[in-house]
Amino acid sequence: MDSIAIFSPGSVANVCCGFDVLGFCLDPIGDRMIVRQSKTPGIRISDVKGFKVPLNPKKNVASVAAEALLKDYPSKFGYEIEIDKTIKPGSGLGSSASSASGAVFAINELMGSPLDRKQLIQYALAGERLASGAKHADNLAPVLLGGFTLVRCLESMDVLPLPTPNELVASIVHPKIELKTSYARAILKKEVFLQDAVHQWANVGAFVSALYTNDYDLISRSLEDIIIEPNRSMLIPEYDALKSSALESGALGFGISGSGPSVFALSQGTKTAKKVVQSMSDILAPLDLAFDTYVSNINQKGIQII
Ligand code: HSE
Repeated sequence: MDSIAIFSPGSVANVCCGFDVLGFCLDPIGDRMIVRQSKTPGIRISDVKGFKVPLNPKKNVASVAAEALLKDYPSKFGYEIEIDKTIKPGSGLGSSASSASGAVFAINELMGSPLDRKQLIQYALAGERLASGAKHADNLAPVLLGGFTLVRCLESMDVLPLPTPNELVASIVHPKIELKTSYARAILKKEVFLQDAVHQWANVGAFVSALYTNDYDLISRSLEDIIIEPNRSMLIPEYDALKSSALESGALGFGISGSGPSVFALSQGTKTAKKVVQSMSDILAPLDLAFDTYVSNINQKGIQII
């Protein structure tokens, strides 16, 4: 095999209470990538379609992640990466994670799969750090492993796949403004009150328990973010109205997708998820602001060869 085509999905990070640790994988959107083995050593970005991202391999998250992999697993071949980006950079839907994970996944396959999907996360992290200035794997883990994931510890790469209750469906609204993760991180408070930390980590524990026990009421009670949302929500047009409309339409919970500007809701059943996305569209429709909407099952497979 000297070339491979893959679909690398989008993802929702944080999932309200789990800043930098929780994430889940989306179904309907993702980058398509073709990676070709070449006789010329090194990594090249041969073509980018869709959204504009750098062709310079030192500035592109896919090639930077690929370089990190090749540093530990040298190859006599080079690799050319073609990216058809459908996830807008700065959307909060895991655009950089999709490209970075896709590159290391594809090259690993072409090398005969020396690493498993979990081991690839540490290499994709180099791309994520380039994109946001910080190492976080809450998008990378669900893209590579599928479903819900929890990053317990980055240093030891202790990443846990979590179960998905059958009827859980996501509603996503992406207002088309660009919000850089680096900026959305820079505005966060560096310290939190102990009582807020206690509240938040209780919610993370409860949410994980709820995923295991299919407890939709507990999912609803624990989808709450008292630490990050107050700072970031002010960057998102009509945030409070979107949240109220989603919850009034039956969503179990609502929050910022990753660092925004996209927002997400989780619902029990596709019928409610569609109603929720419609109610959020009704809030944004009168504004002079383009936006996309998606209703997505929780993608259990993660990156796939196509
Ligand atoms: N956990 C990261 C953040 C996700 O919220 O900054 C970025 O997509």
